[in-house]
Amino acid sequence: MNVGFIGLGRMGAGMAANLLKAGHHVTVYNRTPEKAAALVAQGAKLAARVSDACRGEAVITMLANDDAVESVASGKDGIVDSLPAGAIHVSSSTISVALSERLTEAHAKAGQRFVSAPVFGRHDAAAAGKLFIIAAGEPAAVAAAAPLFDAMGQKTFVLSDSPKAANLVKLSGNFLIASVIESLGEALALVAKGGVDRRQYLEMLTSTLFNAPVYKTYGGLIADGVFEPAGFAAPLGQKDIRLTLAAAEALRVPMPLASLLRDRFLTLLAHGGDNLDWSAIGGLAAKDAGA
Ligand SMILES: NC(=O)c1ccc[n+]([C@@H]2O[C@H](COP(=O)([O-])OP(=O)(O)OC[C@H]3O[C@@H](n4cnc5c(N)ncnc54)[C@H](OP(=O)(O)O)[C@@H]3O)[C@@H](O)[C@H]2O)c1
Repeated sequence: MNVGFIGLGRMGAGMAANLLKAGHHVTVYNRTPEKAAALVAQGAKLAARVSDACRGEAVITMLANDDAVESVASGKDGIVDSLPAGAIHVSSSTISVALSERLTEAHAKAGQRFVSAPVFGRHDAAAAGKLFIIAAGEPAAVAAAAPLFDAMGQKTFVLSDSPKAANLVKLSGNFLIASVIESLGEALALVAKGGVDRRQYLEMLTSTLFNAPVYKTYGGLIADGVFEPAGFAAPLGQKDIRLTLAAAEALRVPMPLASLLRDRFLTLLAHGGDNLDWSAIGGLAAKDAGA
């Protein structure tokens, strides 16, 4: 397919590279153009402006947050302004349910199609083409984007005709991961202060009742206290809990645990955690314990 890719950060760089490897014609745009050099060397075309990445059958966005997506999607020469009628905007960033609704409407008004396709998996999974893709949108548009999903992920789950459902599910998933990080941090602080080896404890947990990737990945990071370089930066984690709470408020769903996580992220950021991985909230319990 002829596809544009906007946002070449930790995730986007690997996703765009896998589109190229699968034989798609990829035009890339990034606010900081230097980050496109490696992809251009692999055969991507460099777009000097957002609109130049919007000339194909589809454009994928993988940007930090709502503000970033809104700034490239709307306004003169933005995606809505530039995409041909019938073409698809595939939004893979973790954004709010409210922005997903606005984009669905704006693209429909412009005769374009909008598919939400947020992802599970960190930068290593993005580079390896092993993401899990949560897709929602008009069925024909989701089907048309399937070759792109196949190039970037190991499995695509099609959830709903309504794009915002995928965003809600993605946020709920990150809320669950953050809950695991916090609870692992507390459990590890407890046993470590009681004299138990953290690695040995984790080995026992993850080979018995907690044999899941999320416990292995984050347990390892917390046990080793290695939160740099960030694979998923703490401000983005904080953003996801904030967006989860916004969705919960709109639906009138109390989520007391999400409120607690919000404060954990604020504590981390208030103490200079901006450049740490989001799993660093799992290191707070040990500090609270004076360990
Ligand atoms: N990292 C993960 O493990 C992971 C996993 C699943 C989902 N996600 C989600 O995927 C998205 C991208 O995450 P990431 O880790 O790749 O983030 P990242 O490394 O921080 O990259 C962010 C990208 O957004 C661009 N950007 C930020 N603000 C912008 C603005 N105002 N205008 C235009 N471009 C802007 C950046 O451009 P510059 O290069 O110019 O700064 C960069 O291309 C986020 O929504 C995140 O929540 C991340």
